[in-house]
Amino acid sequence: MHPNREQWQSRFSFIMAAVGSAVGLGNVWRFPYIAYESGGGAFLIPYFIALFTAGIPMLILEMGLGHRLQKGAPLVFGSIRKPLQWFGWWAAGLSAGIAIYYSTILSWSWVYLWHAMKLGWGKQAETFFVEQVLQRSAGPQEIGAPIGYLVMGMALTWFVIYLILRKGVRNVSKVVIVTVPLPLILLALLLVRGLTLPGAMDGIRYYLTPDFSKLTDPSIWLKAYGQIFFSLSLASGVMIGYGSYLGRKAEINNSALITGLANCGTSFFAGFVVFSMLGYLARVQGLPLPEVTQSGTGLAFVAFPTAITQLPALNGLFGVIFFITLLTLGIDSAFALQEAFTTGFYDKWHLSTEKLARYFVIAAFLLSLIFTTRGGFFWFDIVDKWICDFGLVVSGLGQCLIVGYLYRIRDFREYLNRISEIRIGVWWEWTLRYITPSVLLIILIGNLSREIRSGYSGYPQWSTLIGGWGVLLFWAVLATILWKIPAGGARSEDR
Ligand code: PHE
Repeated sequence: MHPNREQWQSRFSFIMAAVGSAVGLGNVWRFPYIAYESGGGAFLIPYFIALFTAGIPMLILEMGLGHRLQKGAPLVFGSIRKPLQWFGWWAAGLSAGIAIYYSTILSWSWVYLWHAMKLGWGKQAETFFVEQVLQRSAGPQEIGAPIGYLVMGMALTWFVIYLILRKGVRNVSKVVIVTVPLPLILLALLLVRGLTLPGAMDGIRYYLTPDFSKLTDPSIWLKAYGQIFFSLSLASGVMIGYGSYLGRKAEINNSALITGLANCGTSFFAGFVVFSMLGYLARVQGLPLPEVTQSGTGLAFVAFPTAITQLPALNGLFGVIFFITLLTLGIDSAFALQEAFTTGFYDKWHLSTEKLARYFVIAAFLLSLIFTTRGGFFWFDIVDKWICDFGLVVSGLGQCLIVGYLYRIRDFREYLNRISEIRIGVWWEWTLRYITPSVLLIILIGNLSREIRSGYSGYPQWSTLIGGWGVLLFWAVLATILWKIPAGGARSEDR
């Protein structure tokens, strides 16, 4: 172990940071749109089943592994079996990949924050988003030069991340005290506004009425598990990294339960905000609810601005509130993602926290420039799809199999029970050995066959080969290099 490894100052800081990482754009942007696409209430049942059959057991596993072995993902897996260090780097690479495209939504949010004061999107929120903000080209083949204000938004995002991470996790604790509660308070304000609008109840009804006939549709189950993974920041090394900053004395099981419930509670809550606004929008536009908005990204950047413009009063204020909510939601997830990757470098080569933050931010900023171009939106969409639906699922599957079959899981469970406030039964072992891997395997096969049969979103095949499989392969190569470079660095005697 590393004697100088940083630590959270308290259990509270740890839980706040974990919640900060989990609660993010996934809760306000991804969850409501997936619920919406899957028929509202029909989605909630598979979603909560996924939380208990995969989400919480894996959170316990990841936080517990990090804590027990006191290392980030690469060396955690490397200490289970030497060659598995490669797998750890690959998983942590996914987090770097997510960080790089996640920052795109933050850069749009800065731009929208700027326009929100004057309701710059006017009456045509969709045209504004596509033509003015993104200046979107015809497809991934037309990339074009980076667009100035998107680059500025991107630079601002990475600069803020650098400021937070250069002093390490101690700083993180200070930041999350603000970035965790603030968006919740702002969401509550938006909820009050939403619920008092005409038509709101239609939206809420759509959100809450379960449709049992849809439960036989496998794609809803796939989406529910995918969303739980993304939303709980699983399979990307984030929770392992955060767990590793827990000192010797720690509590895992209950902390994981609290994090999981807080995250999904926030999603459930955000659903009320979004669906009340959608109900209002349906009423104003005279459309049935399922036809109000088209695409996922559209929800945050088209449907919401439209609803805001139509509000009877204080539109500018609510616009500003909404985009500050997105920014504060996203920023703590973004730096958690970066931390999951850089912590591996710290463990292996003892580079200083400040240097790591600086190098990573510069490299990530440069790579993220692709998403600020006119074709950037398409690349963003492809990378997001592949990293979440293939990358995270493969990584989660690998993680369950490694811990379930190579890591003396019984001992591990007993260890967790000794140090934790609540005990987990043998069901936990079964879940990780049989249930979660089977579900993930089915998801993976489902996704693959759909992809092979119909491609993705009508994009040319070469673009998904580069942006999808290419990106995953790139991390695989990088993981090999990082695994092969011998450990070292200034304080190698610590190891
Ligand atoms: N959980 C974050 C969200 O919901 C996103 C994220 C994914 C963060 C994976 C870390 C790792 O927005």
